[in-house]
Amino acid sequence: MTRKTRVLAADAAGIAEAARLLAGGGLVAIPTETVYGLGCDATDAHAVASLYAAKGRPSFNPLIAHVPDVAAARGVGRLTPAAEALAAAFWPGPLTLVVPAIAEATSELARAGLASVAIRVPAHEVAQAVLRAAGRPIAAPSANRSGHVSPTSAAHVLADLDGRIDLILDAGPSAVGVESTILDCTGPSPVLLRPGGLAREAIEAVLGARLDSAAPPLAGTDDDDPAPLAPGMLASHYAPSVPVRLDAREVRPGEALLTFAGARPPGFGQAVAQRDLSPAGDLVEAAANLYAYLRLLDGAGARGIAVVPLPGHGLGEAIADRLRRAAAPR
Ligand code: TXA
Ligand code: MG
Repeated sequence: MTRKTRVLAADAAGIAEAARLLAGGGLVAIPTETVYGLGCDATDAHAVASLYAAKGRPSFNPLIAHVPDVAAARGVGRLTPAAEALAAAFWPGPLTLVVPAIAEATSELARAGLASVAIRVPAHEVAQAVLRAAGRPIAAPSANRSGHVSPTSAAHVLADLDGRIDLILDAGPSAVGVESTILDCTGPSPVLLRPGGLAREAIEAVLGARLDSAAPPLAGTDDDDPAPLAPGMLASHYAPSVPVRLDAREVRPGEALLTFAGARPPGFGQAVAQRDLSPAGDLVEAAANLYAYLRLLDGAGARGIAVVPLPGHGLGEAIADRLRRAAAPR
């Protein structure tokens, strides 16, 4: 199944073309504030099946339904009181809420047969315009081949999916740079399924309670695993092609180096290639640069990527999570 993949500027004409293609069951890469998503009509099982095929994603891995606002979200899932409070505080924004599904609102295939549905209201002008023009929930996983690093630019999407999707709307680099934080709101109190672009501390301030994390998956599992809780959490999901070595205190021969806050570990000058996630030590900037720098260092011809220790607070939790997966054995 090959398609002619076009790249259009995310202006009024581009957005109208995106909406037209989505209404016809097409596959359109859409910019959001976190990463680029690969969108399709979440109510159209045929479109969802072709999306899974284009990504090479196992079809039991459920997709996030994207909607323009909380009113539309209430048509897709039953928002619990905690979900309502979190939606009021953080939507639009980099937060995905898993709630009991309203069965007829999205195709069962998009939910991978689950009784729950993941919902997100993105804070991006273009994503908002596409969702309003589409007038239906849009299922959108990150716009990468399954198992690859998420795309934060139109060029990343094209590198992974050229010939497999219909359109890429180009709105420049993603501001946040890591995927949304996912909370399971189906139980008595919310549980963190995936750390992401919204920091735990902000969520805990609204809940007035500490947030529990779901048990991490086993290292070495892949997104071919059966029935994972949040398959995006699977250990080796975010994978460059060369090995990643975390908490590196020195650069070893042949390695590329990913640093933070101006760190210069021994061997710095010998690194095959080097990038600093944020010379100023800003974790928000570091998250925004993470995937682009991983891709760049992955393509530098090094035998591995050494990563210096990073702080764990704020967006550091999501960065550490993605780096752990990038480093997981596979
Ligand atoms: O920032 C984001 O969330 C991006 C942009 C495009 O919105 N999307 C994204 O989608 O990261 P994806 O498909 O790469 O990750 C969605 C995660 C998967 O790990 C999936 O397992 C989980 O959400 N998920 C979806 N529905 C779920 C459900 N009902 N219960 C638990 N986890 C669910
Ligand atoms: Mg993904």
